[in-house]
Amino acid sequence: MVKNDRANFGSKLGVILASAGSAVGLGNIWRFPYETGNHGGAAFILIYLGCVLILGLPVMIAEFLIGRSSQANTAGAYRNLAPGTHWRWIGRLGVLTGFLILGYYSVVAGWTLEYIGEAVTNGFVGKDAEGFKSAFNQFAANPWRPMLWMILFMLATHFVIVRGVEKGIERSSKIMMPALFIIVLILVVCSVSLPGAEAGIEFLLKPDFSKVDANVFLGAMGQAFFSLSLGMGCLCTYASYFSKQTNLTRTALSVGVIDTIVAILAGFIIFPAAFSVGISPDAGPSLVFITLPNVFQQAFSGIPLLAYLFSVMFYVLLAMAALTSTISMHEVSTAYLHEEFNLSRKKAARIVTLGCIFLGIFCSLSWGALKGYTLFGMTIFDLFDYVTAKIMLPVGGFFISIFTGWYLDRKIVWAEITNNGSLRVPVYKLIIFILRFIAPISIALIFINELGLFKLL
Ligand code: TRP
Repeated sequence: MVKNDRANFGSKLGVILASAGSAVGLGNIWRFPYETGNHGGAAFILIYLGCVLILGLPVMIAEFLIGRSSQANTAGAYRNLAPGTHWRWIGRLGVLTGFLILGYYSVVAGWTLEYIGEAVTNGFVGKDAEGFKSAFNQFAANPWRPMLWMILFMLATHFVIVRGVEKGIERSSKIMMPALFIIVLILVVCSVSLPGAEAGIEFLLKPDFSKVDANVFLGAMGQAFFSLSLGMGCLCTYASYFSKQTNLTRTALSVGVIDTIVAILAGFIIFPAAFSVGISPDAGPSLVFITLPNVFQQAFSGIPLLAYLFSVMFYVLLAMAALTSTISMHEVSTAYLHEEFNLSRKKAARIVTLGCIFLGIFCSLSWGALKGYTLFGMTIFDLFDYVTAKIMLPVGGFFISIFTGWYLDRKIVWAEITNNGSLRVPVYKLIIFILRFIAPISIALIFINELGLFKLL
């Protein structure tokens, strides 16, 4: 069902900021540092950059062109472009993936609200590294508080979504993204000037390839897809709101660059600070919530007012970055239900919000009451993260490359990438080559490698 009255982003800047708003989120500031920490630092970052360049950007361009040419939600997109085929399952898989990610992402997003509260009420004052650690663990294990914050966060997301594409999504990104960038820069300066920060900087810049194994590649690939919002039709849905004048290649490059810069800068906030106060870099998902409050207290120990202001600002901005991302994931399912099942946007959004809260409850409890329930050694929360980021997104990316590179009519691909011939895109042939060969083969190799099949041979 193609609608002529489809919503649109109002401006070029709006397009970039909304897409970058989707990409920049907890993935950059919370997940990137702990994945880097778990996988040994600089070597992981190098492999990550390779994944962004070789897999991320081409797949992003593919998602953009699928979305804009079909003018539909991600499941409808494949139906429009490949009627009567099984390709529509890729779109449906994407909707499911986004829904699952939102289920655990909203839990962490909820934590940011608790930490805003702590910062505002001066709750960080007088705690040391141990104090922050036990405070976090106690909070996360509490059955009610994290759950209520998660619900509140989903309601905020819901509120923006029902306001629509231009008034809700675009306007909120235009305010939040520039603010985020400025505060990130300030925090980097604070963190690298802490005593003992050098060890953290070295961890980020000096690659130690002896730590690189199959796992590191899978981690880097998963993180690249996750951080760039790829592999589930999120940017595909956004691109369906792009205008015909939008330069897809350039937009992809801008989003990729902004997202990567924010992730690297987040590394420069967290690791110098973590090393400076003696917190292990592989502390995992809780890293940002334990290390950072400590940074503010230590960096400004003589000037409590600054410590206060920075803590508050940081968690407010972390929440905003998370919000522009939850909005984008919510939009995928909302647009799907709205267009495929003829529900009103409001009703569609309500179903998505309630469904995510339901999943979120389990993910939230898996830090406390349900901690003992594990599968393959992972809690429900970890399992959601692993299955979505490391399996479902790369599988989505694999099929998106194949679809664009092999199935889709080359005329459509060309018309979308060059805006019907009006743009010169010198890398056009390279993009096609990557989508046909490099991207699917690398994704497959990384999977085979992870499964240990090479060793068997
Ligand atoms: N990229 C976002 C982040 O870094 C999260 C996100 C939004 C996402 N939309 C997505 C991840 C789609 C995977 C797929 O926080």
